[in-house]
Amino acid sequence: MPVSQEQIARYHEDGFLVLDAALDAAEVASLREAFERDCEVPGPQLVPEEGSDRVRAVYASHHRQAEYAGLIRDPRVLGTARRLLSDDLYIYQFKINAKPPLGGEKWSWHQDFAAWRIADNLPAPLQVNVAVFLDDVDEFNGPVIFLPGSHRSGLVQQGRKAVAKSEQHLDPEDIALTNDQLTELVTRRGMVSPKGPAGSVVFFSPEIVHGSGPNMSPFARRLLIMTYNDCANLPSWSGEPRPDHLVCRDTEPLRVLDTTFLDALQGAAA
Ligand code: SIN
Ligand code: MN
Repeated sequence: MPVSQEQIARYHEDGFLVLDAALDAAEVASLREAFERDCEVPGPQLVPEEGSDRVRAVYASHHRQAEYAGLIRDPRVLGTARRLLSDDLYIYQFKINAKPPLGGEKWSWHQDFAAWRIADNLPAPLQVNVAVFLDDVDEFNGPVIFLPGSHRSGLVQQGRKAVAKSEQHLDPEDIALTNDQLTELVTRRGMVSPKGPAGSVVFFSPEIVHGSGPNMSPFARRLLIMTYNDCANLPSWSGEPRPDHLVCRDTEPLRVLDTTFLDALQGAAA
């Protein structure tokens, strides 16, 4: 799926780019199985929904599951990310937001780079997020909503709230836009929520304003988000760094696989 110049221009204009059904059914099935396996690994990388033992998010699955270690190097993913951002990229953060059926909670309106600048001192918004739908996404199961073009407004909300909702700034509530900021931006930019079949891929800017509502449906909405950072734009900390499941420490440039992640995995197993 090489993206066209027109699609690249649209990414820069809108702040996001949707590729419908970019991964096939066998690939989606293998990623779901890897997710199920990864949820069985105890540790701080598993974040539960508030007041529940259901998984809200799991971090750094590419450290533990071969499917994801391959996916971050897949030409459709890394190759496209390089065209949208720059040649030397590594994975800064990898997460799967599980949004379980009937109750997966909202993610407040925010800009990712606001959190990363505060928590990890990232110098510049030289990242690209790649979201992969592990389930069909519709208007009922809590799709991500973007404000198109809002990445071109810079950081709308610079600071964080005095009382943090989450440890390590995992919850965007800590850097959420105010109602006034949001109203002004939505009036100017509108709202779009990409929907589509499992296997669809959405590239989005670290500065675009986005959020999502609760999952009101009886079906999961598992969303994998890989964040690539430019290898020349490294984090730094004056105190204790965030743990390595939140901020990956391998900052060597990733090499693009010659083939798709599943073919590479099956070739290695043969
Ligand atoms: C995010 O903003 O990173 C998560 C949004 C979502 O999973 O709906
Ligand atoms: Mn986000």
